[in-house]
Amino acid sequence: MSAPAPCPCARAERVGSGDVPADTCAIIVAGGSGERFGDPRGKQFVELCGLPLMSWSIMAFDRAPSVARIVVVCAPERSSQVEKDVLSQLTLAKPVVLAPSGVTRQDSVRSGLGVVPRELEFVAVHDAARPLVETEQIEACVAAVRADASLAGAILAMRSIDTLKLVEGTTIIATPDRSFYWAAQTPQVFRTARLAAAHRAAVRDEYQGTDDASLVERLGGRVRVVESTRDNIKVTMPEDLAIAEATLGQRLLT
Ligand code: CTP
Ligand code: MG
Repeated sequence: MSAPAPCPCARAERVGSGDVPADTCAIIVAGGSGERFGDPRGKQFVELCGLPLMSWSIMAFDRAPSVARIVVVCAPERSSQVEKDVLSQLTLAKPVVLAPSGVTRQDSVRSGLGVVPRELEFVAVHDAARPLVETEQIEACVAAVRADASLAGAILAMRSIDTLKLVEGTTIIATPDRSFYWAAQTPQVFRTARLAAAHRAAVRDEYQGTDDASLVERLGGRVRVVESTRDNIKVTMPEDLAIAEATLGQRLLT
């Protein structure tokens, strides 16, 4: 007989209510089709340590003292599945609203922004496909922006661990100093008004970025990095699920 599954809420006590204002809206984007993962259920719904994968990031944001509200962006035809298989299985303290996804991730974030109450000063955009994000990391990003009025945003990112090559075709052109290179992750936290303006400008200029920070940067907004770890992987390929399962399983035991 296998050991009983650890309670998914086992880590709920690690972050207390804190003394920060609840002035942040989370936008968790879960509207992708998971082509590279290749499971017909969609990677956000596959089981990870006993729950649909996207549940873990929703719980991490729900525990964050700065977060007042959570927007989950999903395909409209999947919204009843999100309600039934994900949200109704969790005991959440914060209100959750759904927003319809778009064709690209950037469209999905813009859709989510459309239902963010403007009185919430900060917005934290997160990939549902990053189930290992920790509440402390979310709080660290919000705290960084909160503490520095000159910042438009702060993102979780990891120092490059590999030597990087600039390659044209298959020929190496240069070996840049890797100490200048960081790999961007999520959450990416911004002043709500700044991210909304950046998305409006991206529509106007027909600009497609690969993350939200790039939209803010191109308008001259200052965005800083908050150092992350390798744990915060984006489940992209089928083999990533086993890595996530091992890391999360280990955490749930401690
Ligand atoms: N996403 C989204 N709307 C889209 C595309 C992506 O909300 N139109 C979300 C995904 O659900 C995921 C996150 O953005 O949580 C990061 O995207 P990615 O890892 O690329 O997921 P998919 O686009 O689903 O996967 P693939 O690119 O392999 O199809
Ligand atoms: Mg994608």
